[in-house]
Amino acid sequence: EQALYQRYEEKRDNQFFSTEQEQWESNQIAKSSLNVGAQDRQKGDNYEYVFDEKEFNWDDWEPEIHDEEAAFRKRVEEEEKRVQTIQEVRQTLPIYSFREQLLQAIEDHRVLIIVGETGSGKTTQLPQYLVEAGYTKDGRRVGCTQPRRVAAMSVAARVADEMGVRLGHEVGYSIRFEDCSSEKTALKYMTDGMLLREFMTDPLLSTYSCMIIDEAHERTLHTDVLLGLVKRIMHAETNLRLIISSATLDAQKFARYFRVGDEEPPIFHIPGRMFEVKKYYTKNPEANYIHAAIGKVMELHINPLVRGDILVFLTGQDEIEYVQQNLEHARSILGSKISALDICPIYANLPPDLQAKIFEPTPPNARKVVLATNIAETSVTIDGIAYVIDSGYVKQNFYSPKSRMQSLEVVPCSKASAEQRAGRAGRIGPGWCFRLYTKYIFEKEMPFDAMPEIQRTNLANVILLLQTIGVRDIMQFEFMDPPHTDCIVQAMNELLELEALRQGADGKPRLTKLGQRMAEFPLDPMLSKVILESEKYHCSEEIISMISMLTVQGSIFYMPKEKKVAADMAKQNFYRPGGDHFTLLNVWNQWVDSDYDKRWCHDHFIVHRSLMRARLVREQLAALCERAEVPLERNPDPGDIVPMQKSILSGFFMNAARLSLSGQSYTTTRPGSSQTVKIHPGSALFKVNPKLVIFFELVKTSEEFMRQVMEIRPEWLLEIAPSYVPQSLLREIDSKRVPKMPKQVGMGRRHPNDLG
Ligand code: CDP
Ligand code: MG
Repeated sequence: EQALYQRYEEKRDNQFFSTEQEQWESNQIAKSSLNVGAQDRQKGDNYEYVFDEKEFNWDDWEPEIHDEEAAFRKRVEEEEKRVQTIQEVRQTLPIYSFREQLLQAIEDHRVLIIVGETGSGKTTQLPQYLVEAGYTKDGRRVGCTQPRRVAAMSVAARVADEMGVRLGHEVGYSIRFEDCSSEKTALKYMTDGMLLREFMTDPLLSTYSCMIIDEAHERTLHTDVLLGLVKRIMHAETNLRLIISSATLDAQKFARYFRVGDEEPPIFHIPGRMFEVKKYYTKNPEANYIHAAIGKVMELHINPLVRGDILVFLTGQDEIEYVQQNLEHARSILGSKISALDICPIYANLPPDLQAKIFEPTPPNARKVVLATNIAETSVTIDGIAYVIDSGYVKQNFYSPKSRMQSLEVVPCSKASAEQRAGRAGRIGPGWCFRLYTKYIFEKEMPFDAMPEIQRTNLANVILLLQTIGVRDIMQFEFMDPPHTDCIVQAMNELLELEALRQGADGKPRLTKLGQRMAEFPLDPMLSKVILESEKYHCSEEIISMISMLTVQGSIFYMPKEKKVAADMAKQNFYRPGGDHFTLLNVWNQWVDSDYDKRWCHDHFIVHRSLMRARLVREQLAALCERAEVPLERNPDPGDIVPMQKSILSGFFMNAARLSLSGQSYTTTRPGSSQTVKIHPGSALFKVNPKLVIFFELVKTSEEFMRQVMEIRPEWLLEIAPSYVPQSLLREIDSKRVPKMPKQVGMGRRHPNDLG
């Protein structure tokens, strides 16, 4: 050290360091010189440091940890601290002060209705209180249903975190195609659809001590059916506790519904914390609410009224992605001129890893903008929102029993929804809600309440399920809002045509063996039928691949605007004769050949995430096939696609459509309800226009489009569903005596145009 110091002094006197290395060296020297100096001082002052433990506060110091055990101990301590803070957060929620009263009320009443503002802690806290109060001591579970998959997953994760346990162990969730629960799961979150399926094996819900039907105000199809089923249980001898939890104030209706004799279940109100929300309407109707939303987000971000995040309500994934792209673009143009903008989408099919992002706190100097569907209305609570931008629209499915068509339409949301959306801005302080519609529209055109889903959907699925649970006479089933008789009759007919039901001797429908097997699949009856029929055609492997690809919501093909030509080319290269089903199968097979490679997806403009999801669905379907004893077989002749076409047709004959004389549009061939539809421009058969097709679904945009279209032959329709062959086509078949369909050779790269 003395030597170094000397060299330092020399250098210092020279005042010159030629290289970086010298500079570094000199710094080292300077540092050590301080020590040298200190030593000197100590010596000189004859100073001696005496350590006094009493004056020393160990807590100010952090010991350096070398051994692993200590490191582990430290982690445990940190974890304990963290859990403690989570516990503190729990105690700040509005529901906390009602904990004892609530538990008492649940003890006293078999049915309890709980109403509380979103975010008051109903979903995350109440089930925990029940567990803490010992409702799972006897080995039974506490269950909590959610209408949405995303909510079930995210809430379960949050609660596992709060309880300091691993997700899937003590706290778990169960959603269609994904079961994250185990034998020891004491607290189970699940979609209402999954609980419905549990009724098939456990009609009295005997494995539960307490069941919470959450978000009952959403009135989804499955919630409504569940309400009817639990109501039946309540007539039976059981000590199950039932809690109906809802966000809106129309709790009287639930109370009336669960009335036994003169006694109505009590309603427990949990007051929420709400700040005032100022509402603004546009002066004139917006021509395009999506563009208006983008503009408003940027305006608020650049010129904010207060700190705080923005929540935008849109109708679906496509809109959300469009807005996200545009905002990202704006952000990149403005660069450092604006503060950071975190863009977080949330919709039902968003993968879980991305969902977590919306719950993360926003960093200081940044603003989060959450682009959401109506999922953020009540099912998930996002903290820190100061602004709400409300498109005023919602995507809803509608069903017309007359044309027997299901369609997804963007329609104005209800007033109740609009108020609920606005309320999201007032949770942390006063908020602002910008409604992208006029006051006149709000007052005059928006419905007061949304129509329950049960009144606007195809009931075939639910009727089949109810049949297996033993609810034979659907007309006698006590629905809260009964579906229209036409809808029930049509669904019954559909099940009769699919041969899931048959007319019994007493005139009442009976479940067939086929119907029983169909109900084992958590799928639309048409799809279950296809899977079961594929056994006959020896191609179940291909069929479940196709169905997993078909049921993946969200896009398979990635279509970036800036690389549209390349992406289009890539997509067309996947086209196969027969139509979209075979294109999807081809994508799937090639991905499997690439060993599920992410890189491969990227190179071929395929959305990797969608395929991952299809893979998950396929695994589940394969397991379900095993359970239903459908042998998994590969089509023996890969060049012959007819077995697959016939399998699909056996479930989808009701969705057949015939090319009209003009050669542009199609007419559906359902007896008594023909309709004009077109092939969707995204289909492989667009412009190919085969004479006869079946489609997977209809979407209504500017026109009615058929999506996922497959070509079929009239004689197959004659073979499988003779009543669906229109008279004119019958004459044609007769007169031409259509020759046998030539066998297709190979699955080589051929354009669909090549097909006949
Ligand atoms: O069900 P309810 O709307 O009454 O409230 P909740 O979903 O139980 O939410 C209570 C609180 O938990 C909210 O204020 C959120 O801050 C928090 N929470 C969260 O941080 N992450 C989640 N995934 C869910 C809730
Ligand atoms: Mg909730």
